[in-house]
Formats: sequence, structure tokens, C-alpha cells
Amino acid sequence: MQMGRMALPLFCTLALVGLGFSEDVPTGKYMGSAKCKNCHSTAAKGDQFDAWLKTKHAKAFEQLASPEAIKLGKTKGVDQPQKSAECLKCHVTAYEVPAAQKHKNFDATMGVQCESCHGPGSKHVEARLAADEPPAGEKPIEVGKDEIIGHPGADTCRKCHNKDGPSYKPFAFKKYLKEIAHLDPRKKRPADYQDKIPDDPKDDPEAEKIEFKK
Ligand code: HEC
Ligand code: HEC
Ligand code: HEC
Ligand code: HEC
Repeated sequence: MQMGRMALPLFCTLALVGLGFSEDVPTGKYMGSAKCKNCHSTAAKGDQFDAWLKTKHAKAFEQLASPEAIKLGKTKGVDQPQKSAECLKCHVTAYEVPAAQKHKNFDATMGVQCESCHGPGSKHVEARLAADEPPAGEKPIEVGKDEIIGHPGADTCRKCHNKDGPSYKPFAFKKYLKEIAHLDPRKKRPADYQDKIPDDPKDDPEAEKIEFKK
């Protein structure tokens, strides 16, 4: 989504109520989820780190060592999924990104981390470290969209949730997003906000039948 400078105040308003889904990728380095934890693990602000830790994304690298993964790997001629680009490209963050664009402490074994969806976070981390962290309970501050992707959309998910995956399950944005939700409770949204997210034109109609298991 392209927007001129004049549209920025409007964008911010929309982003606050969460309708501004966008995939514009900022430049910068991949920092890894451990860095994000420093500022995003307070319950009053939505504890995004722990919410993420409870999703399958945090286990996506571990998953590649499971008996099921070994079996799936065989069908693709892959012996060791945890060492194969064929699997790692979707099961860890920024696999295809050169090492120079990753922080020295970036740990791929943490799986599909924040920046798989939010884009490289170094600009955001630097900007937030330079500013004072707002105390919990206060209104969230607005961050510029050149800093971090605040509200990634369906195309971001489909980079991995597509039929190139050997275990592809039908994907629909709204349904899957609810399953990994980590909203900031300080941002006022209507109670039915998540149900009102529009269906995506590229949603797989078969996704209706999907039931998530823990
Ligand atoms: C195009 C991206 C992509 C690639 C490439 C990929 N995966 Fe996955 N994998 C996913 C996604 C997304 C899921 C979760 C939902 C689904 O199955 O669609 C998943 C889930 C899995 C699961 C769990 C299945 C389940 O039923 O919960 C296993 C095991 C797995 N992948 C193994 C592998 C192995 C082994 C490889 C390499 C041979 C591989 N994947 C390559 C995207 C990918
Ligand atoms: C699989 C993709 C994905 C991962 C992984 C992910 N997020 Fe998000 N995140 C999203 C999406 C999509 C939204 C937008 C939700 C909306 O606007 O309804 C979002 C929204 C947010 C927001 C804004 C919340 C709000 O109420 O507006 C914060 C803060 C955030 N994520 C931080 C994180 C952090 C920190 C991590 C890692 C610990 C993380 N996210 C991991 C996809 C992801
Ligand atoms: C030094 C503190 C700090 C660090 C480290 C940090 N953030 Fe943030 N982040 C903030 C603050 C402050 C906000 C604004 C919301 C608020 O006031 O809590 C924010 C907002 C966000 C948003 C919402 C943006 C929007 O437009 O709604 C996302 C997404 C996000 N951070 C992701 C990340 C990710 C990913 C990382 C790790 C790479 C990270 N943050 C690391 C402090 C930090
Ligand atoms: C970098 C690749 C990648 C991206 C981007 C990604 N995912 Fe995933 N997702 C995975 C993998 C891999 C798994 C399976 C992990 C496992 O089973 O260990 C998964 C699993 C899931 C699951 C659990 C599925 C199940 O069957 O239980 C949900 C829900 C999900 N993702 C939602 C999303 C949403 C929503 C987005 C976009 C906002 C997104 N994902 C973006 C790779 C990705």
C-alpha cells in the first residue's frame, strides 16, 4: 500500500483501530525475538512476547526434528529437515537474508519470530531505545511506519502459508490471525473488532473446515 506524506495522519488513525494492514518492509537488521522481549512482555501492554511463545511459530524450528518432519522430509528427498533450506526457508525467520543483515545475537533456532511478520526491527529498536519507554498504563505511543510494520497483512502470512509447504493446510487470514492474536489492550477497539476484519480475496475457502489443535 503506497501513501503520500499527506495521508500519514489518516494512516495513523486507521492503524490505531487496526484497519491499516500493510506489508511495506522497512530497511534494517533482523534483531531476533529475544530483543523484542525487553519491551514487549508487560501484561498491561499485551505481553506480545509470551503470546508469541505460546504459538506454534515459536516451535517451528523444533518441529523440524519431529518424527512427522523426518517422514515429510523423506517425501522431498530431505534427510535432515533442520539443516535443509527446503524446510528452513519457512520454519525460521529471515533464512534467505544474508548474515550481514542480522544482529550478531540473532538466533534462528527460535523459529518463526516477530520479524517474520513485522520486518527487520533494528530501526524500531534504536528509535525506541533513544526515546524513553512509556510507562505501562499510559496511552501507547504511535511509531512511524518507516520504523516497523505495525499491522502486517495476509500476503505476509502467505509467504509461508502456501502450497509449497509439504503439509499445507488451507489458509484464511482472519481465522489464522485470531489464533495468534497479541493485541495491545490499551488500544481501544470495538469488541467485535477481530470478527469484522474483512475476508481476504485470496483466502482458501477450505479453511472453514480447519480446527486448530493445541
Ligand atoms: C512454503 C513454506 C514451507 C516450507 C517450504 C515447509 N514448511 Fe512445514 N509448515 C509450513 C506451515 C505454514 C505450516 C503450518 C500449517 C500448515 O501445515 O500449512 C507447516 C507445518 C509443518 C509441520 C507440522 C504439520 C502439522 O500437521 O502440524 C511439519 C512436520 C512440517 N511443516 C515439516 C516441514 C518439512 C520437513 C519441510 C521441508 C521438507 C517443510 N515443512 C517445509 C510451511 C512450510
Ligand atoms: C505470524 C506473524 C506475527 C508474528 C510472528 C508476530 N506478530 Fe505482531 N502482529 C502481527 C499482526 C498481523 C498484527 C496486526 C494485528 C491487527 O492489527 O489486528 C500484529 C500486531 C502487533 C502489535 C500491535 C498490537 C496492537 O494492538 O495494535 C505489536 C506491538 C506486535 N505485533 C508485536 C509483536 C512482537 C513483539 C512479536 C514477537 C514476540 C510479534 N508481534 C510476533 C503478526 C505477527
Ligand atoms: C526499547 C523498547 C522496545 C523494543 C526493544 C522493541 N519495541 Fe516495539 N514498541 C515499543 C514502543 C514504545 C511501541 C509503541 C507502543 C507503546 O507505547 O507501547 C512499540 C510498538 C511496536 C509495534 C506496534 C507498531 C504499530 O504501528 O502499531 C510493533 C509491531 C513492535 N513494536 C514490534 C517490535 C519488534 C518486532 C521488536 C523486536 C525486533 C520490538 N518491537 C522491540 C518499544 C520497543
Ligand atoms: C516465515 C514463515 C511464516 C510466516 C510469515 C507466517 N507463518 Fe504461520 N506458521 C509457520 C509455520 C512453519 C507454522 C507451523 C509451525 C509448527 O507446526 O511447528 C505456522 C503455523 C501457524 C498457525 C498454527 C496452525 C495450526 O495448524 O495449528 C497459525 C494459526 C499461523 N501460523 C498463523 C499465521 C498468520 C496469521 C500469519 C501472518 C500474520 C503467519 N502465520 C505467518 C510459518 C509462518
